[in-house]
Amino acid sequence: MAKRTIVSLPGDGIGRAVLEETIRVLDAAGFDADYVEGDIGWEFWKEEGNPLPQRTIDLLEQHKIALFGAITSKPKDAAFEELSDELKEKGLVYSSPIVGLRQHFNLDICMRPCHSYKGNPLNFVRRGKGSDIEEPEVDVVIFRQNTEGLYGGVEWSNPNDKVYEALMTHPKFVKNFGDTPKEEVSVSTRIFTKKATERILKGAFEHAKNFGYKSVTVCEKPNVIRETSGMMYKMAQQMQKAEYPEIELWNTNIDAQMMWLTKNPEDYGVIVAGNMFGDIVSDGFAGLIGGLGFACSAQFNPDSGIGVFEPTHGSAPKYADYETSIVNPIAMIESACMMLDFIDEKPMASKIRKAVADVISEGDVRTYDMMRMRGKADVVENGAASTREMADAVIAKLK
Ligand code: NAI
Ligand code: MG
Repeated sequence: MAKRTIVSLPGDGIGRAVLEETIRVLDAAGFDADYVEGDIGWEFWKEEGNPLPQRTIDLLEQHKIALFGAITSKPKDAAFEELSDELKEKGLVYSSPIVGLRQHFNLDICMRPCHSYKGNPLNFVRRGKGSDIEEPEVDVVIFRQNTEGLYGGVEWSNPNDKVYEALMTHPKFVKNFGDTPKEEVSVSTRIFTKKATERILKGAFEHAKNFGYKSVTVCEKPNVIRETSGMMYKMAQQMQKAEYPEIELWNTNIDAQMMWLTKNPEDYGVIVAGNMFGDIVSDGFAGLIGGLGFACSAQFNPDSGIGVFEPTHGSAPKYADYETSIVNPIAMIESACMMLDFIDEKPMASKIRKAVADVISEGDVRTYDMMRMRGKADVVENGAASTREMADAVIAKLK
């Protein structure tokens, strides 16, 4: 095996702690790689006016695979306030570097598996018949379109005349909004293209086929959002009929899905959705398997082979300055396993997942979230494992 070079993007806050521990786990599993660190995040916004410097983009272009911790994002005005004085004059506008990476490299496939580990005290349970308590096994993989839709960034407040005129060509705009002064109108668009919709659907069906899931569920809202959700569902129907007749195609509305996922989560297999609904439904399922400490993700472009693997949690700034990091590294470790799958190191990924599963089922080493403690600096004194101790426990299982 040729030695790999992996771009490490620790980012902000707890991103660095979880990424460092994950690299120790990868080393212990025998993954032979060099890591080059890329600059990304809030510090680079404040100092350079760019949270995603070109040199970081170049690194990813060159090496193709990145492990990403987390970044801090703040709203527009707060971001401007923190800009260094000499940059304040330059009219810079903050935009999320992770969204920037997705769009620059067209990382349009986002995959978020939510699989419950046996023995995780945070697993979802429900009341069964009588006084039974049931713990259904959740094994869902969400395919979220990652570049378009409501997060595509095509939006206006007080739209310019051309945009406003275009809106006024729509009878529903005239009827419902035509009387509102233009200055009081904000518009965020939800654009779906056939090409990207086809790619995310294909990703979902292929995954279902390759890993034996019986169903693919399109989770949108085609009865109301007729054009975009409607297009996705229709294309899914055609694709299923032509190419995947052995896989069942289901259709749920995002709102109903959020209710059903706490009723019968074990019924779902692969779920596919647009950008925002995919974001929502994946957080919902993540809650059933332990929450942010367990929610991993991959985003990639199958054509270029460029992939960024990251936990779905953010930088959790309130824990960032603790002398001993307390956060759960499992979401990041799981994301690294997704990276190993992606670069065809599947046996190594399985080995690490098994080590994590063993640590969780034995239950001797648990981070504060798994002990239902409030996250404070003293949790380790009170019996919770630190980030490092959790990684050490996984490493011990690998030996
Ligand atoms: P967050 O995910 O950083 O933290 C929310 C809470 O979840 C934390 O206070 C903590 O209680 C818990 N948590 C998160 N990660 C955990 C872990 N590994 N182990 C145990 N508990 C964990 O979300 P929040 O507080 O809304 O955002 C903080 C910053 O992160 C913001 O600036 C936000 O914009 C950014 N963010 C970045 C993301 C990314 O890098 N992809 C994603 C989400 C938020
Ligand atoms: Mg999210």
